[in-house]
Amino acid sequence: VAIVADETVASLHAARVEAALGGAPLLATVSFPAGEKSKTRATKERIEDELVERGLGRDGVIVALGGGVTTDLAGFVASTYLRGVPWMAVPTSLLAAVDAAIGGKTGVDTPLGKNLIGSFHRPLAVLIDLDLLSTLPREEVDNGLAEMVKHAVIADAAYLEELVQGADGIRALEPEALEAPLRRSVEIKAAVVHRDPEEQDERQVLNCGHTIAHAIEKTSSFRVRHGLAVSSGLSVEAGIACRLGILDSEERDRLRTALTGLGLPVAPPRDLAPSEILAATAVDKKGRKGRPRYALPEALGRMARGPEGYGLEVEDSVVLAALEETLSCFA
Ligand SMILES: NC(=O)c1ccc[n+]([C@@H]2O[C@H](COP(=O)([O-])OP(=O)(O)OC[C@H]3O[C@@H](n4cnc5c(N)ncnc54)[C@H](O)[C@@H]3O)[C@@H](O)[C@H]2O)c1
Ligand SMILES: [Zn+2]
Repeated sequence: VAIVADETVASLHAARVEAALGGAPLLATVSFPAGEKSKTRATKERIEDELVERGLGRDGVIVALGGGVTTDLAGFVASTYLRGVPWMAVPTSLLAAVDAAIGGKTGVDTPLGKNLIGSFHRPLAVLIDLDLLSTLPREEVDNGLAEMVKHAVIADAAYLEELVQGADGIRALEPEALEAPLRRSVEIKAAVVHRDPEEQDERQVLNCGHTIAHAIEKTSSFRVRHGLAVSSGLSVEAGIACRLGILDSEERDRLRTALTGLGLPVAPPRDLAPSEILAATAVDKKGRKGRPRYALPEALGRMARGPEGYGLEVEDSVVLAALEETLSCFA
């Protein structure tokens, strides 16, 4: 076994995982500096060289212990190391537990864009130990929480209410409060990726809120954290769905009330111009034929499907109007 973890998570939790290996021989615990800046081809190479040096063979297994940076990076290492070795994910951030570790997408960033180089390589297992999450900094919680709301929007309106009811315990990462919602989110994401592992069709629903979210992150030079961008994105995209006559305004407002109840934003920050956010949607890599696509709800818990699948094309004027509406109403 080789454990891969960032330095922060390694110092907090590697010993506990090492102790849990039982009789399996531990060849190495390889670490790298924490943060997105490490999710690169260069870090992948360093990890690979260390694994070769330590003698990890084809009978080995890589354990990715950490947040989404680690599960993406170590999973990608596993997918090409000796032409592919098995790996396990032990997510330690809420985002990794409900999202990044589920579904087998692995990869690294390049200077020109996030997640541009990677592979599909499903882990043997995803082991979620709620105790490992207890050390997560509070500002990291929003990142996972926004994705949990997204799961509710995609598949389960009742789950949205449960999230709002349990908000305090979830935000405090109390294991008793976290267990049921975390399980529900994993079920929803796992069901989608099981039906469409390589994003030919249904998996696009997981992009809900994200066309606008990526544009907000980009326009803010990544000052706005992913979860807050996703929350605003869900709200703006619900507005787009209303304007297209796909979603009832009552449903949109229910979603916005829920986001607010969870302490999440429903509009982009005021200093980001709607026209700039719109311009930044143009290069979203999930787009086809150069036009961005939107995965939009037709009700809370149900996604709209168009003639070409779940990625819908939307007129710029509609996107702009929805952005302006959230800014004037909520920011
Ligand atoms: N593969 C996928 O399907 C998928 C889906 C969503 C996101 N992602 C990727 O996930 C990444 C973001 O994940 P993330 O937010 O977990 O980032 P991350 O791995 O950088 O973790 C965030 C921070 O929290 C720290 N941390 C993690 N667990 C901790 C713990 N238990 N205690 C203390 N500190 C802890 C980390 O050291 C890091 O500083 C992005 O690169 C994104 O592209 C991938
Ligand atoms: Zn996301």
